[in-house]
Amino acid sequence: LDNGLARKPPMAWMSWQRFRCITDCETYPNECISEKLFSRHADLLVSEGYADAGYEYIIIDDCWLEKERDNKTQKLVANKERFPSGLNALADHIHDKGLKFGLYQDFGTNTCAGYPGVINHMALDAQTFADWDVDYVKLDGCYANLTDMVDGYPEFGRLLNATGRPMVYSCSWPAYQEDEGQMPDYESLKKHCNLWRNWNDIDDSLESVMQIMDYFSKNQDRIQPHAGPGHWNDPDMLILGNYGLSYDQSKLQMAIWSIMAAPLIMSNDLAHVRPEIKEILQNREVIAVDQDELGIQGRRIILRNDIEVWRRPITPKTTSGEYSYALAFVSRRTDGAPYAIKFTLQELGLHNDGGYDVRDLYVKTNNKLGVFSASSQFATRVIPNGVTFYKFTAL
Ligand code: GLA
Repeated sequence: LDNGLARKPPMAWMSWQRFRCITDCETYPNECISEKLFSRHADLLVSEGYADAGYEYIIIDDCWLEKERDNKTQKLVANKERFPSGLNALADHIHDKGLKFGLYQDFGTNTCAGYPGVINHMALDAQTFADWDVDYVKLDGCYANLTDMVDGYPEFGRLLNATGRPMVYSCSWPAYQEDEGQMPDYESLKKHCNLWRNWNDIDDSLESVMQIMDYFSKNQDRIQPHAGPGHWNDPDMLILGNYGLSYDQSKLQMAIWSIMAAPLIMSNDLAHVRPEIKEILQNREVIAVDQDELGIQGRRIILRNDIEVWRRPITPKTTSGEYSYALAFVSRRTDGAPYAIKFTLQELGLHNDGGYDVRDLYVKTNNKLGVFSASSQFATRVIPNGVTFYKFTAL
């Protein structure tokens, strides 16, 4: 969507994967979907250094609404017990921190968790979002007809735009089409949305991360070409910092999401992210891969001996137009030991005459591997369910 926004994949914190639809604030005071959760996370995003690393949006996912619209005005109403100060006050707090404010809604009659959706009140709701100083809208697709989405999603985007308030527009419509075996219209998505969920929800497990990787690699020919500044594929949230991924598996998700030019949308409890995981989430060199200005989404280029090679063209380019690359090697092996493997640079598709200066993006000191010529071999050793991740700078 050419609205000047999301020129790089959005970086954010969002409630859903970690906090779901917890509405019982008495039993779970620190976890329930409430203004406290979001203002606390706005504070943490800044105080824990995430904002400095580039994370910018605080996004409320489902379960923020009252079950009914306002009787008289038909406006949406934020849950009065859990958001007693109202969304404007929360937006102010988020903006005062130098951050931006995102909100979830649903195109259908109801959100996935059963709260009122926008379908019969689209103009009113777009205006209400603008009045609440919203900067980012995630529009889900539960309780809706697929056939209505084709015109309905673009229409809601136009209504958001018509408010005059710039709002990033995240669409879930292709994920629902995929679910029904229909081909998403990527040209329409690029035109009308800043990002879109392609497929299933992520859960807090390595299995879920791998399923998403498999979906994106198997379907990369029809998905990958459509990413670029202002319009991104969204493989769903970063789950590192929660329960399901080990330290090395956390590196894996972060590396592959960066290769995929994915929006970096964390869903975790920022008060309880262990320091070593926080370091992964804030790894400047890995984030730079994700945010690379060319905006070219990477691909899985090799699958050999259960080692996957993922590659993304990035800056700097040489004067003769050769790209630099980020390369990730993932082991799906189950034989339980580090696995050494070699590739020629030719096999990796690296042909630059001047060669490449290679550095390890997950090693802090002595991370320079030296210069590799286009005729040389590159060796790496990957642990089970782990990743090695390098930047090949074209010389
Ligand atoms: C769907 C979306 C999720 C989340 C939930 C909320 O499943 O894909 O990301 O927003 O709805 O109910």
